[in-house]
Amino acid sequence: MMKEEINEILKKYDRKKISIGTLGSHSALNIFKGAKEENLRTVCICKKDDEIVYKKFQLADEVIFVSQFQELLDEAIQEKLRELNTILIPHGSFTAYISAEEIMSRLLVPMFANRELLRWEVDREKQRKWLEMAGLNLPKTYKDPKEIEGLTIVKFPGARGGRGYFLVTSPKSFFEKAEDMMKRGHLTKEDLESVHLQEYIIGGHVYPHYFRSIMENDVEFLGVDKRYESTVDDIGRIPASEQLQIDLRPTYTIVGNIPITLRESLLPEILRMGDRVVEASMKISYPGIIGPFCLETVITDNLKIYTFEISARIVAGTNVGIGTSPYLYLKYGERMWMGRRIAREIKKAIQTDRLEEIVY
Ligand SMILES: Nc1ncnc2c1ncn2[C@@H]1O[C@H](COP(=O)(O)OP(=O)(O)OP(=O)(O)O)[C@@H](O)[C@H]1O
Ligand SMILES: [Mg+2]
Repeated sequence: MMKEEINEILKKYDRKKISIGTLGSHSALNIFKGAKEENLRTVCICKKDDEIVYKKFQLADEVIFVSQFQELLDEAIQEKLRELNTILIPHGSFTAYISAEEIMSRLLVPMFANRELLRWEVDREKQRKWLEMAGLNLPKTYKDPKEIEGLTIVKFPGARGGRGYFLVTSPKSFFEKAEDMMKRGHLTKEDLESVHLQEYIIGGHVYPHYFRSIMENDVEFLGVDKRYESTVDDIGRIPASEQLQIDLRPTYTIVGNIPITLRESLLPEILRMGDRVVEASMKISYPGIIGPFCLETVITDNLKIYTFEISARIVAGTNVGIGTSPYLYLKYGERMWMGRRIAREIKKAIQTDRLEEIVY
């Protein structure tokens, strides 16, 4: 249904004047700079307070102001975007501020993404199914807190950026901590009913970024980052004795990303994982992933790779590659990064009259 409507809209688009649009946050600069390098116009849906970013870097040809991102669904704003021949690039703020259901049913602007898979990525159970279908190693999960064995991370639904997550080691410590978090107002009864209990994997945190190209019929590996998180990344700087005195609990609020390169012997598996995730995505919802996706993994000391999450869209970790990244350099030998790779795919689709295959 939706796809037919999107095709109708595309028919009316002026393909010589396609613009690339996104919400002004997350990886917008990455996306806009990439579009500009490929000579496409850019549209930023922006909150007044954040305008300074797009003004200073001068990357938005058009700015549409909103007071909150949900206004993207307003008919007037969608109409404006269609007038500008906009193709939207979804990033983390889309699913964080607008529900996947609304993106599916109410956003009638062509999007460079498989919308059905955005719905899969916001649902932990669906994600798990997808990753299992792809044959990846996943951390164990526990249905009931009484089953907890060993170090376990307690998560809550939705993309909360690790807010409120906590670690426990036994059923007893789970109930104690949950009680305490509720008393302190960090947790509600409803939260507790929808907890997700997952084996905590100790190892190196590695977030590989991929690009599934329909135009080139390939899955490209673009780079890797790790996250810089408050407060968990600071805890090692505090001696254990003081940690005990202040009853320290790690939190996982992202403040930035750090680029990494992988030991080369990890690459065969990392590359195969990307291929298999795409193959599985084609079975879930044809044509499968369109463009960027990212896995969140932990690699143990015996080099076993555990995947605990997937994003079916650009992730902010690709911002570490703006300008270039080692792995993109290997393939392209020129300035290439995720935002530009997206724009190049769209450009090629325009030139070969295949836009219908990559926007939904
Ligand atoms: N099974 C696990 N083992 C070890 N660390 C984990 C595990 N699951 C999550 N983490 C760590 O906890 C933090 C937050 O987890 P997670 O990514 O699941 O949260 P989120 O709500 O999905 O956040 P985001 O949407 O920003 O990715 C991350 O730093 C991640 O590295
Ligand atoms: Mg995550």
